[in-house]
Amino acid sequence: IPKDHRLTKVLLGDVGAGKSSLVLRFVKDQFVEFQESTIGAAFFSQTLAVNDATVKFEIWDTAGQERYHSLAPMYYRGAAAAIIVFDITNQASFERAKKWVQELQAQGNPNMVMALAGNKADLLDARKVSAEEAETYAQENSLFFMETSAKTATNVKDIFYEIAKRLPRV
Ligand code: GTP
Ligand code: MG
Repeated sequence: IPKDHRLTKVLLGDVGAGKSSLVLRFVKDQFVEFQESTIGAAFFSQTLAVNDATVKFEIWDTAGQERYHSLAPMYYRGAAAAIIVFDITNQASFERAKKWVQELQAQGNPNMVMALAGNKADLLDARKVSAEEAETYAQENSLFFMETSAKTATNVKDIFYEIAKRLPRV
């Protein structure tokens, strides 16, 4: 008999990295070129079958603008998993992602599953952060790393599923 699970995830990352676009792709299979910057945070939910279980993903899409930084703990404290998003065409967004990892390691739930998403993988010509650099960083910090594209949908479902598979009892 399938078991039911609730799984709260939080997306963190620099402004414009593509957090809202990843959630929109995952939940509605849509992409918009001019996605508005998130104010505060937005909540989404999606029920999916993962292995033999039904998992209700509850997703907090946080705002990357610095003025909302102080709100972030409200969203990551209760989360079982985090996706830290950066933009592969923007080195500063990768540095910002590392800061989020440090903050979660210091303040977050110690059992939290963390994923690093190198988003905008469709923009290969504009790449500034190599996959090797991000993969090395992820391994050193016990994260798992995937390059994603909200635009083409590459690896979007995969990163959400992979987290669910890594959680105990799911
Ligand atoms: P904040 O809410 O301000 O923190 O930003 P965000 O991380 O939610 O970024 P958002 O999803 O709003 O995306 C910012 C811009 O990048 C939008 O214009 C998107 O269309 C674009 N974008 C997001 N993901 C991708 C992607 O995978 N590829 C490309 N080419 N553009 C993307
Ligand atoms: Mg957003």
